[in-house]
Amino acid sequence: MKITVVGGGGREHAIVKKLKENPAVTEIFVLPGNGGIAADATCVPIGAKDIDGIVRFCREKQVDYAVVAPDDPLVLGCVDALEEAGIPCFGPNARAAIIEGSKVFSKRLMQKYGIPTAACEVFDDEEKALAYLETAPLPAVIKADGLALGKGVVIAETREAAREAVRSMMRDKVFGASGERVVIEEFLEGPEVSVLSFTDGETVVPMVSSMDHKRALDGDKGLNTGGMGTVAPNPFYTDAVAAECMEKIFLPTIRAMKAEGRPFRGCLYFGLMITRDGPKVIEYNCRFGDPETQVVLPLLESDLYTVMRAVTDSRLAETPVRFRDGAAACVIMASRGYPAAYEKGFPITIPEDLREKVYVAGAAQKDGRLITAGGRVLGVTETADTLGEALDRAYADAARIRFENAYYRRDIGEKARKASEKR
Ligand code: AMP
Ligand code: GLY
Repeated sequence: MKITVVGGGGREHAIVKKLKENPAVTEIFVLPGNGGIAADATCVPIGAKDIDGIVRFCREKQVDYAVVAPDDPLVLGCVDALEEAGIPCFGPNARAAIIEGSKVFSKRLMQKYGIPTAACEVFDDEEKALAYLETAPLPAVIKADGLALGKGVVIAETREAAREAVRSMMRDKVFGASGERVVIEEFLEGPEVSVLSFTDGETVVPMVSSMDHKRALDGDKGLNTGGMGTVAPNPFYTDAVAAECMEKIFLPTIRAMKAEGRPFRGCLYFGLMITRDGPKVIEYNCRFGDPETQVVLPLLESDLYTVMRAVTDSRLAETPVRFRDGAAACVIMASRGYPAAYEKGFPITIPEDLREKVYVAGAAQKDGRLITAGGRVLGVTETADTLGEALDRAYADAARIRFENAYYRRDIGEKARKASEKR
């Protein structure tokens, strides 16, 4: 069986490694993939947003199944186009991917169906947004409506910063059309939890919970990044919280999407905050998280292809999805300076015994060597019986992986480790 995976980061590398565990999978193409994924699959230089190119390639190669991983192609209708061409896919169609593609859509959905989230106002007029900010509670959270490379959220501590955020989104259009509408919402506090789920539009099966570390520097300081490390499970996601999330958030969301004529099939990512008033939705993503996937899939005991196929074929209710006990930790190694300016082109040395534990994100092949080619270069994941062990091992691995200007946070999982030791 031939499978195409659309995307080219650490998340896609983790998906590829897991799919390969199924002996029926004979060939995996990754579009475009990267220099590190090339060790595990055939990378083809077709961009993840080149929908026509992706469809043409899948037809030519007669691939049997496609997994569309990143937000952009999903929102642009990659799954719709592949399905029209007769290729079964994992991932939501464009009508359902809007749950991530438009924050205005997702906020209105939650309001309409009583799903707990931060209170908010929506604006399509800059003057009205600025007027609202005169009396809005601080800090104010300002979000561009559309996709913005993960940078469309500003937490403004002062009125001036809030005004500046609105102006840059609505007047200066730093995120293009994505900022034509903005959501201004209440600031919530509490531990954050990521819950990825498999859903076929009827049944929802949450995966093991996880915790991302979005800031660049230790102690959650510095700029927001795509994610500097993850751990799973997330100790703040207790059984009681999980039950409440299922009842008040997961099932209502799946039912709401169905009721709106937008049944969601694929991986629905719930970004949650466990507030004093209970769990609330911070954001929905229409896809696997990155780097959450790098800790969640290594703990998946069931065969990934079988589960994905059950989602596509609406058979999730009768398909077992099992995760192993224990914990996983992923440390992201980045180019020093990321997410601002950084240098690239440095050779990467990965000891042979670590190859299976490394998920490559920003690297290229040059003269037969792997070189750095991005901000987040790679992640190294370890699983173990306890989170402490997994973290110790992941950090020991990171110390053995070498490239010039390598940078990683030293405190990934510290909060989680303390919380899990208390429990
Ligand atoms: P996002 O780009 O949607 O992932 O948001 C980035 C980060 O902003 C989230 O992970 C949260 O830490 C934070 N955030 C978003 N919305 C809120 C909110 N209403 N209150 C507090 N923090 C928030
Ligand atoms: N790690 C956060 C995300 O994938 O959006």
